[in-house]
Amino acid sequence: MAGMALAVVIVLLVVGSLIFHYLSPWYFTPLASNWSTIDFTVDVTFWITGIVFVAVNLFTAYCVVKFRHRPGHRAHYEPESSRLEFWLTAATAVGVFLMLTPGLFVWGNFVSPPEDALKFEAVGKQWHWSYRFPGQDGVLGATDVTFMTPENPLGLDPTDPNGQDDVIVASPIVHLPVNRPVHALLRSSDVLHNFTVPQFRVKMDLVPGMVTYQWFEPTVPGNYEILCEELCGIGHFAMRGKVVVEEESRFNAWLAGNPTFADTLAVPEGNAQAGAASYAVCSACHGQRGEGNVALNAPKLAGLEGWYIRRQIHNFQSGIRGAAEGDIYGAQMAPMSRTLANDTAMANVIAYIDTLPDNPTEATIFGDPEHGEKLFMTCAVCHGKDAKGIWSTNAPRLAGASDWYLKRQLMNFHDRIRGGHDDDIYGEQMHMMALTLEDEAAMEDLVAYINTLQ
Ligand code: CUA
Repeated sequence: MAGMALAVVIVLLVVGSLIFHYLSPWYFTPLASNWSTIDFTVDVTFWITGIVFVAVNLFTAYCVVKFRHRPGHRAHYEPESSRLEFWLTAATAVGVFLMLTPGLFVWGNFVSPPEDALKFEAVGKQWHWSYRFPGQDGVLGATDVTFMTPENPLGLDPTDPNGQDDVIVASPIVHLPVNRPVHALLRSSDVLHNFTVPQFRVKMDLVPGMVTYQWFEPTVPGNYEILCEELCGIGHFAMRGKVVVEEESRFNAWLAGNPTFADTLAVPEGNAQAGAASYAVCSACHGQRGEGNVALNAPKLAGLEGWYIRRQIHNFQSGIRGAAEGDIYGAQMAPMSRTLANDTAMANVIAYIDTLPDNPTEATIFGDPEHGEKLFMTCAVCHGKDAKGIWSTNAPRLAGASDWYLKRQLMNFHDRIRGGHDDDIYGEQMHMMALTLEDEAAMEDLVAYINTLQ
């Protein structure tokens, strides 16, 4: 009786697995590259292992019933059968051969990028992506992590003439032309990462100290998410990027809109005196000394990093920030940001803000700083233990900021009033982080702790 029950369970297991496989929504995304051969090898593996799985389990169920104990029957002991062993070995060898052979051909193709492929570089860093394209000369200049600074985030060697015309994409969003093979060179500045676009099927690790690669030909225009598929620390799950696949002419226009390395080096230093005039507009809300004004909902600016202010002004100008429904104060800031007409004006005003005294702010939020300290452990990974901000993780300084502003931003990130724009990939990271705070009280505890770090 028990034998019958066991056989039924085994059969149900097989039927259940098949139903799950065919009805499950978790399967390949639609293919959007040339790598149909990779899908083929996966399908071959599925079929062969699937047939073996069904056959072995049904045979087991059959044996359990057929050879169950019955009075008057005795098992016949037959430890060796060279005939059976020969056929089992032969069938297994054929199965393994069929599963592995297509993969060898695909791998051979995968490691041989076409000569005429468009080269570009993707650089991974905890926890974001940036890119570089060769300029007119078609050659990527030399790099070294020791050259990495806020002005030179990809670490190009400033003395290498080949690098001067390289196009720098200091954003997690990259564009690629459709129907043209691309050869992606992969570089990491810290730990192992992995460059994967599920719809392209190929993936490859980024290894510090070496340049790895993959190639593919995007075949369907559209937006695709880049995932890091190598566990690379606490922010691993939030290390996303985006590929925009489009017609070659649109791609070329996009590429031309990005600065060359020489352009980025020529960005004006910023003249604080000239910036003081532009700052007059800002001072109406943010205060003469950039101290912030709670009544006008304008946060403190003094003490903020230049790279962070630049990115936020750019986001306000381009509608990445301040355009979401419900973002009342962002909507006020968006038109103000447009008073800074160009990079020079922006650099000047940033230089001026840099001269403003960074005085402590008055606390307006009183939560439980001890609980906040525990919550801050997660924030510290990007923003630093002392909340002073870390450029290489794109995380601004929090210590000394207006506490009411920090709380409002946490709530905005939580509700995607901030960070909900498709192109706001750092904001999306903060959205995912804000979701880890269970309620408003937790946010207040966290901010109360940040207040102690001034
Ligand atoms: Cu980078 Cu995971």
